[in-house]
Amino acid sequence: MNIEEVASYCKRRGIIFPTSEIYGQVPGFYDYGPVGVELSRNLKNYWWKTFVQDRDDIIGIDGSIITNPLVWKASGHVDSFVDPLTECKKCKKRFRADHIVEEKTGKQTDGLKNEQLSELIINEKIKCPDCKGDLGAVKSFNQMFCTNVGPVEGNIAYLRPETAQSIFADYKSVMDSARVKPPFGIAQIGKAFRNEISPRNFIFRKREFEQMEIEFFTKADKKNDCLDYDKISNLRLKILSGEKQEKGLSDAEEMSIKTAFEKKIFSNKWHAYWTATFYQWFLDLGIDANKLRIRQHMKSELSFYSAGTVDIEYEFPMGFKEVQGIADRTTYDLTQHQNLSKQNLEYFDEETKTKEILYVATEPSLGVERLLLLVLFNGLKEEPERLVLKIHPKIAPYKIAVFPLIKKDLEPKAREVYNLMKEEFSSFYDEAGSIGKRYRRQDEIGTPYCLTVDYDTLKDESVTLRMRDSMKQERIKISELIPKIKEAIKKGLV
Ligand code: GAP
Repeated sequence: MNIEEVASYCKRRGIIFPTSEIYGQVPGFYDYGPVGVELSRNLKNYWWKTFVQDRDDIIGIDGSIITNPLVWKASGHVDSFVDPLTECKKCKKRFRADHIVEEKTGKQTDGLKNEQLSELIINEKIKCPDCKGDLGAVKSFNQMFCTNVGPVEGNIAYLRPETAQSIFADYKSVMDSARVKPPFGIAQIGKAFRNEISPRNFIFRKREFEQMEIEFFTKADKKNDCLDYDKISNLRLKILSGEKQEKGLSDAEEMSIKTAFEKKIFSNKWHAYWTATFYQWFLDLGIDANKLRIRQHMKSELSFYSAGTVDIEYEFPMGFKEVQGIADRTTYDLTQHQNLSKQNLEYFDEETKTKEILYVATEPSLGVERLLLLVLFNGLKEEPERLVLKIHPKIAPYKIAVFPLIKKDLEPKAREVYNLMKEEFSSFYDEAGSIGKRYRRQDEIGTPYCLTVDYDTLKDESVTLRMRDSMKQERIKISELIPKIKEAIKKGLV
């Protein structure tokens, strides 16, 4: 399936559709439908459970989207959060210069300066994709959305372009209230806004999206003291180094985390640990390892705050693309906020009686929409008789669908079973159409277990349980359903 087909499937099945479509689409903005909202919440809950609730070294916050605008001055976003823009001299349409150059020439543009992009546009004779007019010199375009707070004109504020800064801006309040010692992380899930010049590829590049981020702090001289490093160091994965890309090569090599660390793919051991941990998390979700790779950023493309970044990329139909960025953010942000706010953001070590700004050894930053898109591309299978979304039961929008074989006579019993299931699992009741059609509808949205209530149910209190992937059916007592399904979800049996 290509990206347009997936977008059309998402609309048809109530997963995602363009926002306020009756008035015409606003590019870069989408809404979740009834199925999509369940799926995205399950992904976020699973992330939160794994990285916050199940760990002793990470605590969570939920910051507001609008902050004091000085946050964005200190973070560098006001001055540096820009994309290269070129305008058609004839039709006045505006485009992302690097994307246009990449599309027309196939050349890698990461890290190129505006002047270099302008030169490429001239030398490669690149014209406006819409009207073939001449394109103007490349300029920087700040991606932050701006708004006005309260009735006073000029009281400007920005919609946050990353959730990370709420963590840094709240750092003092968190440290004053939570008893944490490095190494520890602060996590957050929330909305971020970027006025992308050309949002594209359905939900891959949106203007309003969600991020799941962790800022993981260590003492600066302890960023290689990662107790669990040995547990992940033998994990093998495909890695495309920055050095290879600088030579114009694009083939990833399989190597262990240990070898990659020795080759300086990672900036520190926590950086290696978090990359491996998230890679493993993707595998546990059932993502195909053959479609995943780690790409190290070249020095020229590193964000202004980063001492080293790797991306976890997935092979979408439009090529390998970033799903998660994992950066070593150094002491940059806390130092900047300490300087501008004039508040002391140093950590006082009770044992050594020393003070220091803590070091963000790793920031794993995952976009909810990109994860969702990856889950769809990875799970959607076109089989001869059906389209089926093969996703892990723990993230499935509905765990169970309940059908009466025939509505007349069997509805009350079927509703009784449905109500029982609803207490434990997100469930769906369907009595419309043939059983075959009802199975197909559930297959398409990834429901792992379907229960059919028939005339025998009225006699022996049993139902037919049908598994999504194997399509195997078995008869099971209603009283045994809940433990059986709980076990199947836990083990990923479908
Ligand atoms: N705090 C670091 C940061 O924001 P980033 O690489 O700009 O780093 C992190 O973004 C993640 O957020 C990306 O890997 C991607 O999953 C998601 N993301 C970024 N821009 C996005 C957009 N316009 N639409 C959807 N997701 C986006």
